[in-house]
Amino acid sequence: MTKGIDAFVQELQAEITEQVREQYSETVLDHWMHPRNFGPLDKADGHARVTGPCGDTMEIFVKVEDDRIVQASFLTDGCMTTIVAASMMVELATDKRVSQAMALTQADILAALGGLPAESEHCALLAANTLHSALEDHLDTSGAPWKRLYRSE
Ligand code: FES
Repeated sequence: MTKGIDAFVQELQAEITEQVREQYSETVLDHWMHPRNFGPLDKADGHARVTGPCGDTMEIFVKVEDDRIVQASFLTDGCMTTIVAASMMVELATDKRVSQAMALTQADILAALGGLPAESEHCALLAANTLHSALEDHLDTSGAPWKRLYRSE
């Protein structure tokens, strides 16, 4: 007797899940299934949109109070690992002082995620660069909030 289509689909799903688990840590899968703070922040104190060499674009928004990042969020048109890297970046940056968040690097994201495949490590670099640009935007405009009125985006 042949296998039913449902059993075939279940086997296929189990096989794919197994392959994904071999390649990615539980933390990566968690951020993929539950991205943290996805979406724009209204009246952000800092914002950047950066396109990486691969063509993926990421945006990061930050709200800053008393030199501390009280909220951070992201948007991206990138793939799974881009989403995961941005999600971890905004999580790591939240509650940090601006100077501490400026010091966060690609390596910090990769360590917190339990690593990414070598071909996806650049996604963490894009996330770090985008955060740094958003914080630079904050520093540029914090002494002169009127500058935000003239931003191009
Ligand atoms: Fe381009 Fe991830 S594949 S940033």
